[in-house]
Amino acid sequence: MKIGLFTDCHYCKAEYLGPTRRPSLSMNKIREAMDEFKSKNVDMVFCLGDLTDHDESSTKEEIIGCFREAMRLICSYDIPFYLVPGNHDYLVMTADDMEREAGFKAPPYTVEAGAYKFIVLDANYRSNMVRFDTAGVDWTDANLPPHQVEFLRTELNNTTMQCVVLVHENLDPCVDKMHIIKNAEQIREIIKGSHRVALVIQGHYHKGMEGVIDNIPYITLPAMCEGEGNSFRILEL
Ligand SMILES: [Fe+2]
Repeated sequence: MKIGLFTDCHYCKAEYLGPTRRPSLSMNKIREAMDEFKSKNVDMVFCLGDLTDHDESSTKEEIIGCFREAMRLICSYDIPFYLVPGNHDYLVMTADDMEREAGFKAPPYTVEAGAYKFIVLDANYRSNMVRFDTAGVDWTDANLPPHQVEFLRTELNNTTMQCVVLVHENLDPCVDKMHIIKNAEQIREIIKGSHRVALVIQGHYHKGMEGVIDNIPYITLPAMCEGEGNSFRILEL
């Protein structure tokens, strides 16, 4: 089976955010990615988070409008699509806002397709285990809360399928430290011990990273919003 992947679009009307991010270009980049996914007949598409962003002049209505616009474009291709939420997605919108506006589904959940079980997690929780949309976003304080740790353990223990774990922030210990989920080591141990995980996919660290940890590939996708070039990927599983 084939899956289409992209991450960190940071879509909004701003021409630049910081020196290198080009958020206003992301709508066309998403269209280009989705055209390619459609033409290559991918079975499903995941965005690994930070679909939208904003600058200081944006109103909540404009931000929700950008989210709705991006989701409508993606869904118009009629390929099963899953948004793994990122820290920026929770800056202004709540999970309920995203669900109401565009059918976002809050993790944790699993999707079975082909021979694989995809396990979608949300590490946008502060150390007090309150989600960013309520607690306020701190991108350096990402944690997978206990109920999701147990969810992951249970899903891995109760399947004979090969699993793919998806989460916005990083489980890979090799990326810049501030991007790593605080309890990543505990989660990697569960992944390793289950002998069920074929692949881990993350976003968040805009440069991207690839490595093999405990014989499991950990892919951190490069961010779509960086520069004028595009960044997306088709994986064949
Ligand atoms: Fe990002």
